[in-house]
Amino acid sequence: MKIIYFSSTGNSLFVAKSLGGELLPVPRLQKNGVYEITGDVVGIICPVYGFTLPNLVKEYLEKAVIKAEYVFAVMTFGGFSMAALTRMKKLLTARGVQLHYANEIKMVDTYLPLFEIAGELKKKKEESIALQINAVANDIKERKQYLARHNWLQKFISNVFSALWENKKAVNKRDKNFRVDDLCNACGTCRKVCPTGNIAGSGKPVYQHACEFCLACIHLCPQNAIHLKNERSAKRFRNPQATLAEIINANNQR
Ligand SMILES: Cc1cc2nc3c(=O)[nH]c(=O)nc-3n(C[C@H](O)[C@H](O)[C@H](O)COP(=O)(O)O)c2cc1C
Ligand code: SF4
Ligand code: SF4
Repeated sequence: MKIIYFSSTGNSLFVAKSLGGELLPVPRLQKNGVYEITGDVVGIICPVYGFTLPNLVKEYLEKAVIKAEYVFAVMTFGGFSMAALTRMKKLLTARGVQLHYANEIKMVDTYLPLFEIAGELKKKKEESIALQINAVANDIKERKQYLARHNWLQKFISNVFSALWENKKAVNKRDKNFRVDDLCNACGTCRKVCPTGNIAGSGKPVYQHACEFCLACIHLCPQNAIHLKNERSAKRFRNPQATLAEIINANNQR
């Protein structure tokens, strides 16, 4: 089994690790120019961003050639996924890939403009997340055929927000809302976790406006030195089942 995945703060990585198989992070696949993925089972795991797919996952899947007898997709999300999975299915269908299983797992919401991490951790207990992951893992082990369905309103909302999210020029510049304070000790972690290589400089991060708005640099800064204008949460998040080294290994473009 091969798993194509993207994860900024470790939720999707934890799911990918729990399912087993060979893990293929999208940023590394892009960096190495690997677009042909063949196996008996191929899975795609990523978070929901703005009720749709992260742009870098969308762009990867638009170019990828996936050949497998059983293809599954799992999206992690925090509150409302709307029809993100339906958009993934549409994208894969357009590439000639038949999806056999598509499901969602609700985890801690990492979207700092709206959610407060301490509250999220209280609401979403590790046990309930583990139960969801086990159920999905069993389905995939049994090669279950199941596609989560979405109603017209969910599809409408995802389509409207996708248009905004896919306005890359606007998204890329959202790093202009990041502020780095004097706690920064120039450790370089932010540069290494960035899946688009958007952070230059050898001291404080210097943003290059090619941002995916994944928030990895903000969540994973060991000094909590990076802040977002109007952030709801002083606390940061990394899934405890995913190490910083694993995220760097998957995302580092430098
Ligand atoms: C930029 C951004 C946008 C997000 N948009 C949504 C969303 O539309 N709906 C939702 O339920 N969760 C949303 N989330 C929450 C993530 O989907 C969720 O926390 C996910 O599990 C994070 O996965 P990761 O740790 O593998 O990166 C968003 C998170 C980020 C950082
Ligand atoms: S991760 Fe934080 S402390 Fe390290 S260089 Fe980046 S901003 Fe500075
Ligand atoms: S600069 Fe930060 S938020 Fe933007 S893509 Fe890189 S890690 Fe993600």
